[in-house]
Amino acid sequence: MKKFFIFALALGAFCTPAFAEGSGEKGSGQPAIGVAIYKFDDTFMSYTRNAIEQNAKGKAAITTVDSQNAQPTQNDQVDQFISKKMKAIAINPVDRTAAGTIIDKAKAGNVPVVFFNREPFAEDMAKWDKVYYVGAKAEESGSMQGEIVAEYWKANPGADKNKDGVLQYIMLKGEPGHQDAELRTEFSIKAVSAAGIKVQLLAEDTAMWDRPRAVEKMDAFFARFGDQIEVVFCNNDDMALGVIESLRKAGYFTGGKYLPVVGVDATAPALQALAEGTLLGTVLNDAQNQGKATFDLTYALATGANPAGAGWTVTDAKYVWVPYQKVTKDNYTNFQ
Ligand code: GAL
Ligand code: CA
Repeated sequence: MKKFFIFALALGAFCTPAFAEGSGEKGSGQPAIGVAIYKFDDTFMSYTRNAIEQNAKGKAAITTVDSQNAQPTQNDQVDQFISKKMKAIAINPVDRTAAGTIIDKAKAGNVPVVFFNREPFAEDMAKWDKVYYVGAKAEESGSMQGEIVAEYWKANPGADKNKDGVLQYIMLKGEPGHQDAELRTEFSIKAVSAAGIKVQLLAEDTAMWDRPRAVEKMDAFFARFGDQIEVVFCNNDDMALGVIESLRKAGYFTGGKYLPVVGVDATAPALQALAEGTLLGTVLNDAQNQGKATFDLTYALATGANPAGAGWTVTDAKYVWVPYQKVTKDNYTNFQ
């Protein structure tokens, strides 16, 4: 009985809020880590967020917040993480040009920071040695999309509907300024051209990564260009699925009427669309490994370990690059 009492007393002392708040550790002795996501309502980011949280189980006390697509909100969240003495933070910026401000705050509070998915500019990354970035090479995803389209075009002469030897296309972009939107747009077309195919852009617009907006944009493009459209490139799968939805309304994907549409991410609904034969192809944006690398680096920094020893190849002392992979009807079952 007496033993138990002493044990309970010790446990109580260990769990006092003062300890938890003051030292950046929870009663379990796990380091406190703050994670901010640009907005929870983004399909791919919800996968990344889940991966971070899964990897944190049993190792760190993580607090994940929704920045609701507002940089001022995220700046306040970062201030709170720092004032609560989090041991390290992982930030998915709303606006990647705001990373410099976040780094200044983190450095002042001596709280190491790992950015992910939205790449800060190199000059900001250089501001402090306790700043890292986990992401994927946006160019690579664009090139892979272009290769999927080039291969399809060469194997299917009927894809050149007006028989002019030129691929007429629509480009639906993600958020302007986002490295994935800018570079996928550029490198997808570069890869098609590099395959020796002439291209003509019919129209380009942003649907902000968002499916309902992509439906609206595609409705308008279709009303304007109709059967002149030969391929639709989308910077992500949610938008590709919106395009497919719009094209269905216009009579596509039934009775042999087809239009190649490509996306990026390899989300579950996109793999389903590949199975159904509506989506031509996508590119795996590896949320599992991006989430794991983000957590592993943040955890290393939170515990004072060297992130270079966290099991990932760290390039230029700051970057972990997770590779993309092409996904088509030939291999999609490997990704389900
Ligand atoms: C991209 C992804 C998009 C969107 C965006 C958010 O990597 O392909 O679907 O999630 O990140 O920053
Ligand atoms: Ca043509």
